[in-house]
Amino acid sequence: MNIKKIQNADVNGKNVLLRVDFNVSLDEKGDVIESHKILAAKESLEWLIENGARKIALLTHFGRPDGEIKPEFSVKQIADDVERILKRKVFFANDCIGEKVKGEIENGENQIILLENVRFYSGEKKGDVKFAKKLAEPFDIYVNDSFGVDHRGHASLYVITDILPSFGGIWLQKEIENLEKVKNLQKRPAVAIIGGSKIATKLPLIKMFEKSYNYVLVGGRVAVEAIEQGINFSEKVILPVDFTGETLDIGPKTIELFREKIEQAKTIVWNGPMGKFEEKPYDIGTRELVKFVAGNKDAFSLIGGGESVQALAESGYWEDISFVSTGGGAMLSFLIGEEMLGIEKLVIK
Ligand code: 3PG
Repeated sequence: MNIKKIQNADVNGKNVLLRVDFNVSLDEKGDVIESHKILAAKESLEWLIENGARKIALLTHFGRPDGEIKPEFSVKQIADDVERILKRKVFFANDCIGEKVKGEIENGENQIILLENVRFYSGEKKGDVKFAKKLAEPFDIYVNDSFGVDHRGHASLYVITDILPSFGGIWLQKEIENLEKVKNLQKRPAVAIIGGSKIATKLPLIKMFEKSYNYVLVGGRVAVEAIEQGINFSEKVILPVDFTGETLDIGPKTIELFREKIEQAKTIVWNGPMGKFEEKPYDIGTRELVKFVAGNKDAFSLIGGGESVQALAESGYWEDISFVSTGGGAMLSFLIGEEMLGIEKLVIK
């Protein structure tokens, strides 16, 4: 897939709207748990600065406030983390549209502006054209670097590309390139690891990998539901042979079985935890598998999805993984071949 790239845009002196996905989880103290999604925007941001962009406004969604202003979903909470992670001074604007934002872009002193949650407006989810026009108004160029939400047809992702000259950011390009590698399988044996909570969302992915991969290792609630529902798979799909905590995590025999397959693999793709990861000790299966995947230095390995990425971050093996996707649902949609509305209009046909 070939998309219009930011590197081909003339951004000198231009006001740029950079759509990012800073939809991160916070701990009890309100600090960002995993910085990957924020860091993902760094390269595009630096490129824009180096190439003379006049103003860069970072636009994100944060949680699901359902079109209402709710303080618990304010982007303000992560403004300090964004500054720290991006190592740039960032000015927080209390809104994402309107006169104040326009004034800041036209006359303000700050080069990098963090806008308020785009989902505070119902027009975002509805893909409302008038709202998209309001978002676009102070800007000359739009850059999409928000892969994690690009399976949505929202105003700031899909509709806005009809209003402003639009380009794909550097992170978006990397996501596409690496996900295409595991989709158009290069090296065998290939192993997919699928976990998480809902069989309905993961079944199409399991079926897809069952066709082209050597093994599909299934864990988490997905495996429990598959067993309970008596879903039929070929011998390529390996379900757990034991569990711990009733069915809250894969058991030691399954971990061993999965280890063998992972160690032989030349391509590994993983989405979703193996157990109730947020509750110790049911994080063991997921953490063990992170070690095996990281330990296989011969394989091209790609991990995505909130909990798997969190387990990886906490493991200290981050550098041993070939690519870490920022997508959960978006990664699934991309791999299954569903519409990616946020990317669709950037594709060069
Ligand atoms: C995610 O966290 O998966 C993305 O940011 C998309 O969020 P959403 O599912 O609320 O659209």
